[in-house]
Amino acid sequence: MANVAIVYHSGFGHTAVQADSVATGARSVPGTTVTLIKAEEWEAQAEALDAADAIIFGAPTYMGSVSAQFKTFMDATGKIWYTQKWKDKLAAGFTNSASQSGDKLNSLIQLAIFGAQHGMIWVSLGELPQNNSSQSSPDTVNRLGSFLGAMAQSNNDQGPDLAPPPADRKTAEILGARVATLAKKLAPAA
Ligand SMILES: Cc1cc2nc3c(=O)[nH]c(=O)nc-3n(C[C@H](O)[C@H](O)[C@H](O)COP(=O)(O)O)c2cc1C
Repeated sequence: MANVAIVYHSGFGHTAVQADSVATGARSVPGTTVTLIKAEEWEAQAEALDAADAIIFGAPTYMGSVSAQFKTFMDATGKIWYTQKWKDKLAAGFTNSASQSGDKLNSLIQLAIFGAQHGMIWVSLGELPQNNSSQSSPDTVNRLGSFLGAMAQSNNDQGPDLAPPPADRKTAEILGARVATLAKKLAPAA
C-alpha cells in the first residue's frame, strides 16, 4: 500500500489536466491511494500530505517560473520545513506551458530544490526522450525531452479539452506510475 498526494496549481485548466493524468498513472499501480490537492487549498489537506509516502508537485510555468499561486504554497510550507516533517518522502514534479521550451526546466528545478529543502527524495521522469530523430514524431511520450520531471505543452489558443495533447498526458501518467511504484517499494509493509 502507498499513499501518493499530488499538489498542483492551474490558472486555466491545462495543468489540472496534467495533474489528472499523473493521478491516473499513480492509480494504475495496485494498492495506491491518490489524493489530488489544489495548491490554494492545501492547508485543509495538510493531514493527507503528512500521511503521504510521496508528494508530486505541479505548476504551470508563468514568466519562466512556477506560478505565483504555487509559490505561495511553497512558501507557506516553511512551517513544515522547520520540523522536516516531509523528510524521506518521495517527491517529483511536472509543469506545463504554452511554448515548446517556455523555460519549463526552470520550474522543474524550482520544484526539485523545494523537495530537497524538505529533505525529500526526488524521482526523475525515467523515460528516454523521443521526438528527437527523423524516425520519431511529436506524438510520442516525452516528446519535449525532459529528464527531471514531466513536461507538457498547451497551445495558447486551445482549451484544456484539447491541450495538452495525448502524448503529454501519457507522459504525465508515466510519472505518476513511476512514483507510485517506487512509493510502494519503499512503504513499510502493512
Ligand atoms: C502570466 C503568464 C505567464 C506565462 N508565462 C509563460 C512562460 O514563461 N512560458 C510559456 O511557455 N508559457 C507561459 N505562459 C502560458 C501558460 O504557461 C500556458 O497558457 C499554460 O497552459 C497555462 O496553464 P494553466 O491553464 O494550468 O494555468 C504564461 C501564461 C501566463 C498567464
